[in-house]
Amino acid sequence: MKFFVDTAEIDAIAELNELGIVDGVTTNPSLIKKSGRDILEVTKEIADLVDGPVSAEVVATEAGAMIAEGRKLATIAENIAIKLPLTWDGLKACKALSAEGHMINVTLCFSANQALLAAKAGATFISPFIGRLDDINLDGMQLIADIRQIYDNYGFETEILAASIRTVNHVTEAARIGADIMTAPPEVIRKLAQHPLTDKGLEQFLKDAEAAGIKIV
Ligand code: G3P
Repeated sequence: MKFFVDTAEIDAIAELNELGIVDGVTTNPSLIKKSGRDILEVTKEIADLVDGPVSAEVVATEAGAMIAEGRKLATIAENIAIKLPLTWDGLKACKALSAEGHMINVTLCFSANQALLAAKAGATFISPFIGRLDDINLDGMQLIADIRQIYDNYGFETEILAASIRTVNHVTEAARIGADIMTAPPEVIRKLAQHPLTDKGLEQFLKDAEAAGIKIV
């Protein structure tokens, strides 16, 4: 499973990138707002930092304007994936921009039928939002499973990018189902390393090491 980081915070991306666990980055207008940075500047910095795809989202809503914005975003760097919302116009822009050879991340996906349309329109990535479905008492993970089955049934190459991940359990479940990629905030990715028994075990080992006078260097 590939790991994307869902943030526009450069320091957090750099720290995770040093561990070699960052396969890409996703941003959206809310994350750009949170960073307080200019979209073109911060996206360029991120794209220079990581080797994998960096999603940058359009803000137009009409297909022609989305295509113009997408082309502009794609000039930032070679590893830009143009992020388009899953609307009818977004699908038109997806078809046109993917035909030009751009990577496309179709976002705000909340149903299997939407994911089917995105794949047929040439999306590189589909972003089903797990957490936001869970927020309204629907089953975000079932959506990932449905899309996996449908894409496998027909051999669609669009990669399933599990998004709106809020918990470590979302990561485990998305991996079990076979999502190609997950994107999560840096805090959730750091939590993947935590386990109370690891902390407890280490505490005991350190006590015993001290008692035994173990010194290595
Ligand atoms: O990748 C999409 C993600 O940013 C949405 O997450 O937590 O705002 O639903 P959230």
